[in-house]
Amino acid sequence: EKGGYKHFMAKEIAEQPTVLADTISAYTQEAEIRLPTGEIDFSQTNKLTLIACGTAYYACQVAKYWFEQEARLPVEVDIASEYRYRTPPVSDKSYALFVSQSGETADTLAALRYCQGKAAKILSIVNVPESSIARESDMALPILVGTEIGVASTKAFTGQLVVLASLALKAAMQRGHLDSDALAERIAALRNLPALLNQTLATEGRIEEVAKKISTAQDVLFLGRGSMFPMAMEGALKLKEISYIHAEGYASGELKHGPIALIDKDVPVVILAPADALFEKTISNMQEVMAREGKVVLITDSAGAKVASDGVWETLVMPTVDPFLAPILYALPAQLLSYHTAVAKGTDVDQPRNLAKSVTVE
Ligand code: F6R
Repeated sequence: EKGGYKHFMAKEIAEQPTVLADTISAYTQEAEIRLPTGEIDFSQTNKLTLIACGTAYYACQVAKYWFEQEARLPVEVDIASEYRYRTPPVSDKSYALFVSQSGETADTLAALRYCQGKAAKILSIVNVPESSIARESDMALPILVGTEIGVASTKAFTGQLVVLASLALKAAMQRGHLDSDALAERIAALRNLPALLNQTLATEGRIEEVAKKISTAQDVLFLGRGSMFPMAMEGALKLKEISYIHAEGYASGELKHGPIALIDKDVPVVILAPADALFEKTISNMQEVMAREGKVVLITDSAGAKVASDGVWETLVMPTVDPFLAPILYALPAQLLSYHTAVAKGTDVDQPRNLAKSVTVE
């Protein structure tokens, strides 16, 4: 049941600190990454292929940044419905990893079957251990977040990110790009994440105020750089699916290659920009938006807000977080913005029109 919340989605957003703490403890032991399902040796492969649909695909897009930057492991990411019909070459040294909350998504399962007998290893990350995708994998890694009922994926997405981050750290160690002190620091940051998620949830009232202002818009853009780029696409997907407001996520640097033409005083532009190594670049894109009267919603930390919130329509201040883990934390304001926008519009949050929780047909 909804445990006092108005919607399953609200409950599932609020549960994240608790359920992710469980996932984190299942994947870490003291200062090590320990998979609950046995070992994977990422030093034995030279390519990782990540395949999924929808929100799970955006989790894979975030993971590409992690595996490539931290573990120097080349990653190919694809949407299952494209991958399955492209007849892509599959190296017998590559690992293929399928991400699916339900474990029953038809396209993802078909892509997995395509890789069987071709890839060196078939891995999956699922929320349902008895599912088809789990059963047909060499190893199925559970996200351990409990049943997700809201059609819009929230805690399953962040659970997928926690497991993918753990795998990327493991790969970084095994491939000699992370020493044990650095790993211990990362694990400490991971264990501290639920506290930061709680701090973020405590700002829900502010996010709701901003959502009310967004709820009258026709179109919303989301921008981010680096691992915030897939978070921008995820933010846009969440908003469109439950509030029916047209939304697109773009890489900040792509703005001037087209989407800037859409910007005027009626278009809110949500900018995901923790004060990290790419911050100044993103902020210069933000200024291009403001110069065209776009209404900027800046989501940043206190260091970012201090230098960049002048003239911004709304600023949402997140706790300061290890940049590696920022995508997991910044998922929350994106979820809450969508949720409160949908509530303000009176749409059916848990059962959005035309959507099904598990897409078992093509
Ligand atoms: C979006 C959403 C969908 C699913 C997609 C894949 O909020 O829920 O985009 O992420 O249909 O579903 P699974 O993860 O079950 O394969």
